[in-house]
Amino acid sequence: MKKQYFFVANFKSYLTFKEEIKWCSNNVKELAILSQDNKIIICPSFVSMGLVKGIELGAQNCSNFGVGAYTGEISAESLAQLDIKYCLVGHSERRQYFNETNENLEKKIEQLFKNNIVPILCIGESHQEYLTGKTQEVLLAQLNVLKKVSKEIIIAYEPIWAIGTGLTPEVEYIDKIYNFINKLMDNKYKILYGGSVNQDLAQKLKQFTKIDGFLIGKASTSFQEFKKIVLS
Ligand code: 13P
Repeated sequence: MKKQYFFVANFKSYLTFKEEIKWCSNNVKELAILSQDNKIIICPSFVSMGLVKGIELGAQNCSNFGVGAYTGEISAESLAQLDIKYCLVGHSERRQYFNETNENLEKKIEQLFKNNIVPILCIGESHQEYLTGKTQEVLLAQLNVLKKVSKEIIIAYEPIWAIGTGLTPEVEYIDKIYNFINKLMDNKYKILYGGSVNQDLAQKLKQFTKIDGFLIGKASTSFQEFKKIVLS
């Protein structure tokens, strides 16, 4: 049977509400066709989620807490009511700009599990850590949040220095890291790659590694670019 790859589009805050709605409504039909052979999950901002129909959606983040007095937060309960099945946690931008720690992530994962939402845990090293050979040590510390986890989770390996830069690691390097994570996690989880994904890289990773799919930022904001990656 043909392998079904994950293609997760992370719109971040690139698109405005109106642009997100337009992106989704213009492409519902084509996405349905692409979804016959691929697992496609679109992660727009929270404001758009309730209005998009006919597309499998994921969230970019969720609250550490359940429902309650947490101004400005979106609970996993609310996401579940919108039929959201996946949620990114620990994206490097959230770790960097919103001070997310392993402790926060453990709480988010717990909230998501309670609501039957699959967390997509993002991990990755900085350029300095890459250059000084610290990648595996960093990933090991980040993966520590999974020590008590027994349910389904997806891991997204996103080297921070490859995000939004157009720089990408060698395919052999991604393969090495994939194998490192896979062994550490006893082959239990799907592992995606993210960081300046384009058609060419996706094609090579499909051909030369066992990667399970892709987390795509900037390129996903153009449907045509995203489609090329899906069809890679
Ligand atoms: P880019 O594809 O823009 O490099 O972003 C990757 C990413 O951070 C996806 O979560």
